[in-house]
Amino acid sequence: MLLAEMTLDEKISLLAGDDPFGSVTGEPAVGTSDGVPRVGIPRMLYSDGPVGPRKGQATQHPAPALLASTFNEDLAYRSGRAIGNEVRLKGADVVHGPTIDILRTPLAGRSFESYGEDPWLTTRLGVAWIKGAQSEGVIANVKHFVANNQEGQFGIPPLTGLIGSRFIVNAVIDDRTLREVHLAPFEAAVIEADAGSVMCAYNRVNSRPACSSPELLTDILRGEWGFDGYVLTDYFFAQKDTVQALNAGMDLEMPVPLFYAPLTIRLNVLAGRVSEALIDERVGNVLRTMFRFGIFDRAAFEERDDLIDQPGHAALVQEVAEAGIVLLRNNGVLPLDAATLSRIAVIGESADRIVSGGGSSSVQPFSVTTPLQGITARAGSGVQIDHHDGGNLADAAALARNADVALVFVAVESTEGVDRPCLAISCPLSGDNQDALIAAVADANPNTVVIMQAGTPVLTPWRHDLAALLQAWFPGQEGGTAIARILFGDVDPGGRLSATFPDSADQLPTAGSVIAYPGLIIRAEYREGVLVGYRWYDHNQLEPAYPFGHGLSYTTFEYSNLRIEGDTVRATLRNTGSRPGRTVAQLYLGLPSPAAGIVQPPWQLRGYQRVTLAPGTSADVVITLPPRAFEYWDFGSNAWRTAPGTYRVAVGESSRDLRLTGELQRGANP
Ligand code: BGC
Repeated sequence: MLLAEMTLDEKISLLAGDDPFGSVTGEPAVGTSDGVPRVGIPRMLYSDGPVGPRKGQATQHPAPALLASTFNEDLAYRSGRAIGNEVRLKGADVVHGPTIDILRTPLAGRSFESYGEDPWLTTRLGVAWIKGAQSEGVIANVKHFVANNQEGQFGIPPLTGLIGSRFIVNAVIDDRTLREVHLAPFEAAVIEADAGSVMCAYNRVNSRPACSSPELLTDILRGEWGFDGYVLTDYFFAQKDTVQALNAGMDLEMPVPLFYAPLTIRLNVLAGRVSEALIDERVGNVLRTMFRFGIFDRAAFEERDDLIDQPGHAALVQEVAEAGIVLLRNNGVLPLDAATLSRIAVIGESADRIVSGGGSSSVQPFSVTTPLQGITARAGSGVQIDHHDGGNLADAAALARNADVALVFVAVESTEGVDRPCLAISCPLSGDNQDALIAAVADANPNTVVIMQAGTPVLTPWRHDLAALLQAWFPGQEGGTAIARILFGDVDPGGRLSATFPDSADQLPTAGSVIAYPGLIIRAEYREGVLVGYRWYDHNQLEPAYPFGHGLSYTTFEYSNLRIEGDTVRATLRNTGSRPGRTVAQLYLGLPSPAAGIVQPPWQLRGYQRVTLAPGTSADVVITLPPRAFEYWDFGSNAWRTAPGTYRVAVGESSRDLRLTGELQRGANP
């Protein structure tokens, strides 16, 4: 009815954003789409992003890589809901998030913004986050569809990396890898979470621009998955043409009309290359979603910072940080006991700031507690805290020598726009001395604990010389409190790695060939195929520094009594230590190969359960495997299939610490 009342020009005006910075009030928004007041179509405001709204000050969440390390869907739901709520109270209707691209290489500038290297974990957390965000009435815009796995090498932000630039790189991926690894999280985002909107990516996929691919946008997204929301482009350079994109199913060009400029579309209509029916279809997708989310039925969301529950959201992001920071190594120095310590040396300039990712996921926090502040407050007046910025190694080492414990803070910056040039903390030519600082302090004090604020896995060649090592990711605005509470044992470190920490750069699935990464000219071949992340290390029998799923508790857990009945797997966990603790029981399957020559990863995460136990107590974990857990993508029949045969089952503490193993059988597809 509405379309019938609109002129062609009015329809065309809805196919692109209008003001990239416009806002009704206050700080600039991330994008707007003016409505058509004549027929009562309201204006829409867009906001980033996965770490919180990017509009004035907001609650700064931990990086999604940390959220993934919680293995906790309830926390993902509550994080999505809190961000959705703030986006709404910033006056915006759509949140550009979550990012559900897979971490293909930890060098990628946006690794911190992904849910790590495992498609199953990414899928589960993405679904929960979207449901949380949309429960607030905002539209979740899942991104970046698809295979936006690198920014490019050799660039200075905000300019993109020159080699393998995200704006032009062609991700060459076989069908099975595309389905099982890169599309799977989007499939669930559409089918299970009912995301209202999808952002098509800058890059090309198998030679077609993602924003004008009929295979991706029409056949798969709408045809197979039944998506009835709308597709919008990533900002400025994702759209590459007009007629192809219209035909392929791309609805809204953001943030301003370039290829969907009114005159261009008008001329194409006049020339008969584009029909009005096609325009109706594109506009119809936007309008239908606006109706679905009640945008016609409610007043515009107001910008009301005063209604944001800042203490509630701060408590949530602290809870997430405590659940996602990963204790990688501990010889017993942790947890610290303030009653027995007299001097703590806190070393490193990043001890007094919260490190966060750059680009569209950078959030201006309402407030921040730095690690130094958190540690000083927790240690109390009986413990002397000395801070040294680490600039002079000899001075830092001297300070450490006279302390009971040395806490060394290192920062690994990463950002949208450019990939990290190397996997070490201190890359050549960077002028960064953090690796040397760690070595110098560890040499001076055997009780050296390193705390990394790093959005992505890095090399840790000095790890054997440390008493303890903590991966804090980008911990968010309450990170200082969370780090202190973990160091002093007020809370058990909850995190389990969402991505493998390699032992050396040549172990990476993308190592050894510029054609695999960052790409030759502009072609990046996904040669690792389905062997992404730990699957690669397992298949090639490589020993990483810290495997996917790894993370220590302050207590120990014993696994026993594996029971497999049908598709349900049970095991018993017992806290065998002397402290209360929590862990994540992880269920991996080894799928049978359906035919000779078809590689199956040795193990694939297919379920998990968080367990919290008092000392000496036990609990059963019960995981029922859904049908998809058994399926692989069969490129012969172009469908998901179950291979008949024996499935190996393992339950354990990480992808490399499998405590219980068994088997189950499946028949062929009916
Ligand atoms: C990013 C998107 C983001 C958009 C708007 C783009 O450069 O790739 O993730 O949502 O900018 O800020």
